[in-house]
Amino acid sequence: MDLTAHEAQPAILSVTGIGKTYVEPVLANVDLDLHAGEVLALTGENGAGKSTLSKIIGGLVDPTTGTMRLGGSAYAPASRSAAEALGVRMVMQELNLLPTLSVAENLFLNHLPQSGLLRLGWIDRRKLRENARGAMAQVGLDAIDPDTLVGELGIGHQQMVEIARNLIGDCRVLILDEPTAMLTSREVDLLFEQIARLKARGVALVYISHRLEELARVAERVAILRDGKLVHVDRMANLTSDQIVTLMVGREIGERIDLGVRNIGAPLLKVEGIGRGDVVRDVSFEVRAGEIFGVSGLIGAGRTELMRLIYGADVKDRGTVSLAPTPGAAPVPLRIATPADAVRAGIALITEDRKGEGLLLPLPIAANVSLGNVGSVARHGVVDAKRENALAMKQIQAMRIRSAGPAQPVGELSGGNQQKVVIGRWLARDCKVLLFDEPTRGIDVGAKFDIYGLMGALAREGRALVVVSSDLRELMLICDRIGVMSAGRMTGIFSRDDWSQDALLAAAFAGYRSREALLHAPETNEAGSV
Ligand SMILES: Nc1ncnc2c1ncn2[C@@H]1O[C@H](COP(=O)(O)OP(=O)(O)OP(=O)(O)O)[C@@H](O)[C@H]1O
Ligand SMILES: [Mg+2]
Repeated sequence: MDLTAHEAQPAILSVTGIGKTYVEPVLANVDLDLHAGEVLALTGENGAGKSTLSKIIGGLVDPTTGTMRLGGSAYAPASRSAAEALGVRMVMQELNLLPTLSVAENLFLNHLPQSGLLRLGWIDRRKLRENARGAMAQVGLDAIDPDTLVGELGIGHQQMVEIARNLIGDCRVLILDEPTAMLTSREVDLLFEQIARLKARGVALVYISHRLEELARVAERVAILRDGKLVHVDRMANLTSDQIVTLMVGREIGERIDLGVRNIGAPLLKVEGIGRGDVVRDVSFEVRAGEIFGVSGLIGAGRTELMRLIYGADVKDRGTVSLAPTPGAAPVPLRIATPADAVRAGIALITEDRKGEGLLLPLPIAANVSLGNVGSVARHGVVDAKRENALAMKQIQAMRIRSAGPAQPVGELSGGNQQKVVIGRWLARDCKVLLFDEPTRGIDVGAKFDIYGLMGALAREGRALVVVSSDLRELMLICDRIGVMSAGRMTGIFSRDDWSQDALLAAAFAGYRSREALLHAPETNEAGSV
């Protein structure tokens, strides 16, 4: 085999026989070399062990077995800061910023003494702000005021801050764990520019993602984990996406899905002229019983906000939401002021932000699933542990949640499996209308198809589904109709016979006429995930 220039050099980092066992082994006998100036893609199903391996390299988790070498010397970091001091850094899958501190403070929290920002023990605020602006400019976000509190930023921008923070200072090895899960395509491009710059400087990068087309774009080599074992390492050019998927899941997965025979009935949910400020402007649509209605659009177009208004998580200024009281009956306007009203009426919202809104991480899967379903697991007002467990078991099986069982704390699950718990909680409830906001973000290819299958089952039962997704291909795969949001308006509703990717994209841009508006409204990532 001919070696590229960087593969011919000695490895910067080698890991040998690395394994990790919690109750059961989650990583076993991993051997891997990283070379200066290369990007190694690391992929595998949810729970395959990608984040665990990263955390071991990044000093956050102790390996149970194995050794590592960095630049020719033994490397066994005792902590994340020990690893960082040696130039090994990672952007974690779950954000680690402090929401109550400013962007500037988050960026330099760990670098105050080294970066000359301390004078006589005081923080030099002006200099801090200046440096922060420089760091943000590197990732193309110089428009953000460094004094903004991180908690006030959208989740995509928070992710960019996390990335910027890791580009500060010396870096020999950089691990990016699902860095683009929440980014728009413009931000992805900025990130890729940074990656190219780091490569040119001789940094070795590990890039973890479920978006296979990104891996092909960014990486020279790919390593595939399955059930904690490294099953294949190869040059990217030697493998097709299909081959990678097959190696990941150990079976073949088609690009097609059969959602079964559905009877699309009478209108069940009717949204009329709903709005809030200029974020959501007079949106109307209806969804029939048994129908899957997609909501597409650029990030920032008001899709999430629309779901929140329907659900009562934010208060609408205008418009009505109506629901058919019985199948076939005319929809009746609802009074929804809070999510509790929506849930009582039979409307569920499955959110994209599993950490912020969805889950109680220290609690077991069982408690998280039954949360919001207390009625069905309680007897005489007391939660019945047996029923709670049975309900959790059912969801674990239906969703193929990879876990040690209902008693395992949700915080110990892999990112994608946490997302499944959020979905499982709502599936356990009897809701007529399910609003899904980015349901498959961070979820592996095989599990996505599990979720599509579940959606099909829900629709066959006569429920109405609304699915917000940035992945156009996903919507075109599972939806009966797609409404496109643009700058707060619904600029088009398409059905299967009259949609095309071009028409959907044109509608997504229709609301942004001026350049100014475009600058503020980020782009799609309809290229999305596989
Ligand atoms: N602290 C912990 N205690 C027990 N088990 C854990 C702990 N942390 C991780 N695990 C288990 O290790 C396995 C691998 O998890 P990991 O987070 O590495 O997966 P991943 O490949 O990153 O998945 P994803 O694509 O969903 O992010 C999972 O089964 C997870 O439940
Ligand atoms: Mg992970």
